[in-house]
Amino acid sequence: MNISYYGHSCFGVEINGKHLLFDPFISENELAKNIDIQSIKADYILVSHGHRDHILDVESIAKSSGAQIICNWEIYDWYSKKGLKNIHPMNIGGKIKLGFGSVKCVVAVHSSQLPDGTYGGHPMGFVVESNEGNFYYAGDTGLTYDMKLIGEYRQIDFAFLPIGDNFTMGVDNAIIACDFINCNQIIGMHYNTFNDIKIEANEALLKFERAGRHLKLLNIGETITIKH
Ligand code: NI
Ligand code: MN
Repeated sequence: MNISYYGHSCFGVEINGKHLLFDPFISENELAKNIDIQSIKADYILVSHGHRDHILDVESIAKSSGAQIICNWEIYDWYSKKGLKNIHPMNIGGKIKLGFGSVKCVVAVHSSQLPDGTYGGHPMGFVVESNEGNFYYAGDTGLTYDMKLIGEYRQIDFAFLPIGDNFTMGVDNAIIACDFINCNQIIGMHYNTFNDIKIEANEALLKFERAGRHLKLLNIGETITIKH
């Protein structure tokens, strides 16, 4: 499984030759200005919620890549009214089998409004399962006991968790989330993009280490391979 970081909460994950892209916010992210969105491969774009810092480049990448958008009903409705056709609506608790494996929508504790003020439905996280490994993409969320359901549901090999605080949980709560989801391998997201979510990276890494957990902070543009 190859994981590429495109800044903020946007990751590309390649599984069994298929490309998943999560929450693209690139073209207005100063930190990601070296990323060319037209070159990003995507078969599926998974959208956790309607906030601008998660959907900004969904439309343009969907058009350039031909990817299918996977999102909740309200975001499906919003994009449908804009004329987009290749969208698969889901909602929390639902699971879909796709060529590379499966995607299950799980609870995120946050809010969701589309950029024009339209209600964006309930925010979600995703559990992705495949023969190359299982992972949890939390989206924007606070720490919640519902994460225990994820840890009991499946063995998670690694998780993308927000660590920037202010709008989502921060480092200390992400460490607690490791217990809830029963997973020690964390890839940090939703930090440093804006002033309100700036973190001290070294301090965050140290806190995880002291707690016996592992935090990975990818460079924007970096790709890593995770072996099952
Ligand atoms: Ni948000
Ligand atoms: Mn956000």
